[in-house]
Amino acid sequence: MKLRYKIINGFLALVAIAIVALAFTISYTSECTAPPGVAAGADTMKAVVSRCYGGPDTLEYLDVQMPEPGPKDVVVKVKAAAVNPLDYHYMRGSPYLMRLSSGIGQPSDHRMGVDFSGVIVQAGNEVTRFKVGDAVFGGRNGAFAEYVVMPGDRALAAKPDNMSFEEAAAIPIAAVTALQALRDDGRLKSGEKVLINGASGGVGTYAVQIAKALGADVHGVCSTRNVDMVRALGADHVFDYKNENYTESDNEYDLIVDMVGNHSLTANRRVLKPQGRMVLVGGPKGDWLAPLIPPLKAMMLSPFVDQEIGMMLAVLTADDLDYLASLMADGRLTSRIDKRYPLQETAEALRYLETRRARGKVIIAMDQ
Ligand SMILES: NC(=O)c1ccc[n+]([C@@H]2O[C@H](COP(=O)([O-])OP(=O)(O)OC[C@H]3O[C@@H](n4cnc5c(N)ncnc54)[C@H](OP(=O)(O)O)[C@@H]3O)[C@@H](O)[C@H]2O)c1
Repeated sequence: MKLRYKIINGFLALVAIAIVALAFTISYTSECTAPPGVAAGADTMKAVVSRCYGGPDTLEYLDVQMPEPGPKDVVVKVKAAAVNPLDYHYMRGSPYLMRLSSGIGQPSDHRMGVDFSGVIVQAGNEVTRFKVGDAVFGGRNGAFAEYVVMPGDRALAAKPDNMSFEEAAAIPIAAVTALQALRDDGRLKSGEKVLINGASGGVGTYAVQIAKALGADVHGVCSTRNVDMVRALGADHVFDYKNENYTESDNEYDLIVDMVGNHSLTANRRVLKPQGRMVLVGGPKGDWLAPLIPPLKAMMLSPFVDQEIGMMLAVLTADDLDYLASLMADGRLTSRIDKRYPLQETAEALRYLETRRARGKVIIAMDQ
C-alpha cells in the first residue's frame, strides 16, 4: 500500500476511534452521588433535585440550602411552576450530545425546573424593576423549589392581575417559543395562512392564540379528542390527524410551525407556498441522532430551494415576557391547563408529560 493511503487509513481509523470514544463517554451514566450537604445554621427549602440521569424515579424531593441572593437578585416565593419537555431532557441527559453542556456521566447542576410564578419576598439594593410584594413570573434554573433566586433584570415580568399564578407559570418556555417561532423565525404577517402541527400541546395552544393575535388565518393539527379545544382557542380550521393528513390537503401555507416532526420535509413542502417558511420547533425523541436528523436535512436542503426551512431555539427574554403579559392582560392570551401536581409529585408530572399526550400545560401547584 502506498504511503499516502496508509496515512489516510490511519487518519480515518483515528477519527473512528475518537467518535466511538466520544459516543461511549457521553452515553455513560454514573451512579447517584450523595445528596448535597447543608451548612450548619443555613436556611433550607424543599426542592426537587436530579443527582443522576434517568427516568422520573431518579428525582428526589429534598431539603436543600437556600441560595444566597446578591445585590442584583430577587428572591421569589414560588406559587406555581410548569413542566416542559426541556425538563425531561435534562432529567435523562438525552439526547446524549446535550451532556457536553449539562454534565458528562451526571448532571453538573442538580436543580430542576425553569418556569415559575410567585411573589418577591426580598430584593437586592441594586434591583430597580421590582420590589418586595410584586407578583411575577419568569424562567430560571431551579424553579421546582419553594424559592427561586435570580437577577431582577433577567427573564422576569410582572404578572397581570387577571391571571392566576398557575396560568402565569405556564407561560415562559412554551409561550415564548410560540412567539419567537411565529414572529421572529416565521416572520408571520397579518392575513397570512399558518399551519401549526401539534396545536394542542404546551407550545401549540399558545401558538394558535398568538398567531390569531398577529392577524393570521390559523390552521391547527391535533387528534380527535382535542379538535374542539383547538377550535375554541381560535383556530380557523382544525385537522384531526387521526382522520386526515394535512400534507395531502389542497391548502398552501405561508408558514408551517412544526412541534411534532412526523411528516417528511418533502411532504411539508408540498403544502408550503413557493416562498413559504417552515420553522422546526420539536421533533422525534431519541438518545442519539433521531432528533438531529430533521434539522440537518433542513440545513442541507435550504440552499437548493426558495422555501426557508430551519430549526429554532427559544431564548427567554424579559421583553418577550412583558409582551406576552400584555396579551394576557387584554384577554388575547390564556393558559390552557391540563393537570396540576404538588411539588413532591413533580416526578409524576414529568412522567405524564413524557407520554406526549398533554393538552396544554402541566403545572406544579405549591399550595396543593
Ligand atoms: N426549539 C425550542 O426552543 C423548543 C422549545 C420548547 C419546546 N420544544 C419542543 O417542541 C415540542 C413540543 O413541546 P410541547 O411543550 O408543546 O410538548 P407537549 O405539550 O408534550 O406536546 C403534547 C402535544 O403533542 C401533540 N401531538 C403528539 N403527536 C402528535 C401528532 N402526530 N400530530 C399532532 N399533534 C401531536 C399531542 O396532541 P394529541 O394528544 O392530540 O396527539 C399533545 O397535545 C417538543 O418536542 C419540545 O421538545 C422546542
